[in-house]
Amino acid sequence: MATTDDKPRGAGAVLRVEGLSVQYGALVALHDVSWSVAEDEILGIIGPNGAGKSSCFAAVTNAVRHGGNVFLDGGNVSSVKTFDLAGLGLRRTFQQNSFFGELTILQNAVASIFRDFSTDLATSLFAPWREIATSRHAEREAAQLLDFFGIPASYHHRLPGDIPYGVQRLLSVALAYGTGAKALLLDEPAAGLSGADMKKLAEVLINLRKRRLALVVIEHHMDLIMSIADRIVMIDQGAMLASGTPAEIQRHEGVREAYLGRDE
Ligand SMILES: Nc1ncnc2c1ncn2[C@@H]1O[C@H](COP(=O)(O)OP(=O)(O)OP(=O)(O)O)[C@@H](O)[C@H]1O
Ligand SMILES: [Mg+2]
Repeated sequence: MATTDDKPRGAGAVLRVEGLSVQYGALVALHDVSWSVAEDEILGIIGPNGAGKSSCFAAVTNAVRHGGNVFLDGGNVSSVKTFDLAGLGLRRTFQQNSFFGELTILQNAVASIFRDFSTDLATSLFAPWREIATSRHAEREAAQLLDFFGIPASYHHRLPGDIPYGVQRLLSVALAYGTGAKALLLDEPAAGLSGADMKKLAEVLINLRKRRLALVVIEHHMDLIMSIADRIVMIDQGAMLASGTPAEIQRHEGVREAYLGRDE
């Protein structure tokens, strides 16, 4: 589909959610939340602790029972299982780092690439030489993946626990991205980061956007999200309080009261 510089919001949306709601027992964690994100766009999601941001990602990826609908490339994927959604190109990270602690950085990246290629059993059983060739190929791809995410070769043969925390955060995003994604949901990628590490993460996210990815980023660091997001959605107590450009969000009276005023 042709896009223009002044495309209307939501036009050509890669990922669109409509009326999402999540309930844990009697607690309504999310109520009637709708947003969309197009390729080559970063949508920020902000809101105070407990606002329902992570629940929103859980609903989008069908990891929790939810109301409302999720559309990927225009198709309704509301009841597609989490694993299959990843196969369709909708992937996410979690607030906590997630990788295999006993595998090296490179092996972790290889694992994410194999996950995406999902080499089938028949290939490994009947054509082991092809499997080896694929492994070598995966290792090369893995090194390139790490390189794209700015993870130096000097770290590739170390364990995740032995590399700086800032690099661990980048690794989590790299592993979720794997061989590529259409829509990538990042839950507080900058948690615990500051200064140079945060700047590096911002650069990586902007480079990802250039790959025509649709990015949705939950973030508490206002400076970061205001500088990289094209649009921002603010969630408060499970409901959408506002949405707009970073400048509009910063001016929004309700947002200032609910969140910005209380931030660091
Ligand atoms: N699995 C669960 N079972 C019961 N309640 C939950 C569960 N997960 C989250 N909640 C509750 O739902 C509400 C929304 O939580 P959620 O984790 O979505 O918020 P959040 O905006 O991501 O917060 P934070 O900024 O602290 O990560 C909170 O009141 C939380 O305690
Ligand atoms: Mg959360």
